Amino acid sequence: MTTQTSIAGIKLKSYVFNASGPRDVTLAELKKIGESAASAIMMKSCTIKPRLGNEEPRYAALPYGSIQSMGLPNLGYQEYIKMIPVLKKYDKPVFASVAGLSPADFPIMVKAFQQSAVDAIEVNLSCPNIKGKPQVAYDFIASANVLKKISRLGKKPLGLKLPAYCDLAQQQMMAKLIKKFGIKFVTCINSLGNCLVIDGHGEKPVIKPKQGLGGLGGQYIKPVALANVRMFYELLPKNINLIGVGGISSGQDAFEFLLAGAAAVQVGTAFQERGPACFNKIDDQLVKILTNKKYPSINSAKGKLKFL
Ligand code: SIN
Repeated sequence: MTTQTSIAGIKLKSYVFNASGPRDVTLAELKKIGESAASAIMMKSCTIKPRLGNEEPRYAALPYGSIQSMGLPNLGYQEYIKMIPVLKKYDKPVFASVAGLSPADFPIMVKAFQQSAVDAIEVNLSCPNIKGKPQVAYDFIASANVLKKISRLGKKPLGLKLPAYCDLAQQQMMAKLIKKFGIKFVTCINSLGNCLVIDGHGEKPVIKPKQGLGGLGGQYIKPVALANVRMFYELLPKNINLIGVGGISSGQDAFEFLLAGAAAVQVGTAFQERGPACFNKIDDQLVKILTNKKYPSINSAKGKLKFL
């Protein structure tokens, strides 16, 4: 059996690909994703102008995940547009990721990607690491303002990368906007923003930017990510696909996201730590679980969480 699936009508050969963030800034890094078993190539969230990102150290591996405050280091959206024809040669979908630093940035980048050969556009409304800029998706008026500007700029599917919501009222508000503006897929969740990890020996935070506050990723946030996938699965029509991200490092993790309702998963911290071999490993393990449980396909298990 295979774990083939689809996101917004775009066919993916497996259930697993990379999250925007780790190892996806340069063409050389993106080519490695192309060569790997990842079923799509997700590019780094880009801004209008190139950015070096925040000061080092800005990433730390932790026993069960990572904390980072990268600050969107990227080459600027025009460089990513130039890379698309090269990346399309890998015979898998290519996803752009855009992260405006102001509302006006979003339509400029979305329009440009709409006119490119990219397959879909993930709109990052949830980067926690830009000094002085709150995560857009916690502000529903600001989010609506962005969505209004970008929703009619072309035919390629638009998705949203959302932050962790810890109250159903927030998910309900966002679900209304997703339906109103014709969003086709939703990626839950970005790293859990503004966490603090302290090195007790040195009596200091483990990363430097923002006095040590950064996005927590990996196993620490899996229950939060699963809950967000599940709640959006309940709140949205089934033709709006969910992509799970947050703590996926094994086939068992991927299977749990599948039960919650995810149509695919993205891998962040595990890809950073283990490199491109992680995609094949996670997908192989998922195949074994599905086979043992006699699920013949991704769709047959999607959303099939049982209740106590
Ligand atoms: C970063 O570059 O700071 C991480 C990207 C994100 O959290 O959206």
